[in-house]
Amino acid sequence: MKEYIARSPGLFEGKVAFMGGAGSVAPGWSIGKACSMAYAREGAAVVCADLKQEAADDIAHLIEKEGGKAIAIALDVSKQDQVEAAVAKALQAYGRIDILQNNAGLGILGGAVDLAPDDWQRAFEVNVTAVMLAAKAVLPGMIERGSGVITSVSSIAGFRHVGFPYISYGATKAAMAHVTKLIALDHAADGIRANTIVPGLIDTPRIEFTVHTARPDLSFDEVRAKRDAQVPMGRMGTAWEIAEVAVFLASDAARYVTGTDMFVDGGLAATVRG
Ligand SMILES: NC(=O)c1ccc[n+]([C@@H]2O[C@H](COP(=O)([O-])OP(=O)(O)OC[C@H]3O[C@@H](n4cnc5c(N)ncnc54)[C@H](O)[C@@H]3O)[C@@H](O)[C@H]2O)c1
Repeated sequence: MKEYIARSPGLFEGKVAFMGGAGSVAPGWSIGKACSMAYAREGAAVVCADLKQEAADDIAHLIEKEGGKAIAIALDVSKQDQVEAAVAKALQAYGRIDILQNNAGLGILGGAVDLAPDDWQRAFEVNVTAVMLAAKAVLPGMIERGSGVITSVSSIAGFRHVGFPYISYGATKAAMAHVTKLIALDHAADGIRANTIVPGLIDTPRIEFTVHTARPDLSFDEVRAKRDAQVPMGRMGTAWEIAEVAVFLASDAARYVTGTDMFVDGGLAATVRG
């Protein structure tokens, strides 16, 4: 897997990135881990925040091992007191937050008939409420400095039916993109940009848990082959390919890009197969 290589040394020097959901549910490169590492490789100090302390520690240590700057914080992105405490800790450590990435995601399989209302509610808390809570906590500092970038990681499931019942995930990922757009427009005149990355089918460690559960009739290799075949480019994407776009969006090269949904999906959304 081709990892992210820093191409503009110093790009994010002096900047601080706050990654909500920086870990991975299993060993390997998740989207949050790869994006955290990419920000660090471009010089940012990264606040690696995750529900699981060991997942946050894992990516923070990987960054430090390369000589980068990182701290690990355990938090539930859907709880206002924990988000506020984490942001306060980040400000204490680094004094500012320039980049906020809303990366934590909760996918609970099921359609309208079988999904439990509590699961619907929880998906909204983690995938939507968390975006508003994080924005509430970081925006005052960004407004004061007249700059800041917010990037939310949605999903193609928020824009298309993905072939199996996933109603809470699809609804919340759609709402996440819209909330991010509303933040972008509310703060466009404050020097703040907010965008949504819409990954297609990405080959991260989590797919073994979610997609395989959706298709227990298939072996995991069959599930992976099926995912590859769905994509016009013939393969799933990698977490590093999402990181490339996250770095672009957070950089000055994207200074005129705000309020948009950026599909990173090998052409999937543009085809009837998507
Ligand atoms: N893998 C894919 O194919 C794919 C496709 C589209 C979108 N996405 C989205 O990309 C993001 C990352 O996915 P991934 O595949 O790398 O998954 P992942 O599950 O490995 O990583 C998500 C991380 O978020 C953390 N997290 C979950 N709930 C949290 C909470 N309440 N508070 C704090 N942290 C929490 C998890 O502990 C985990 O470390 C998710 O939002 C997912 O919905 C993934």
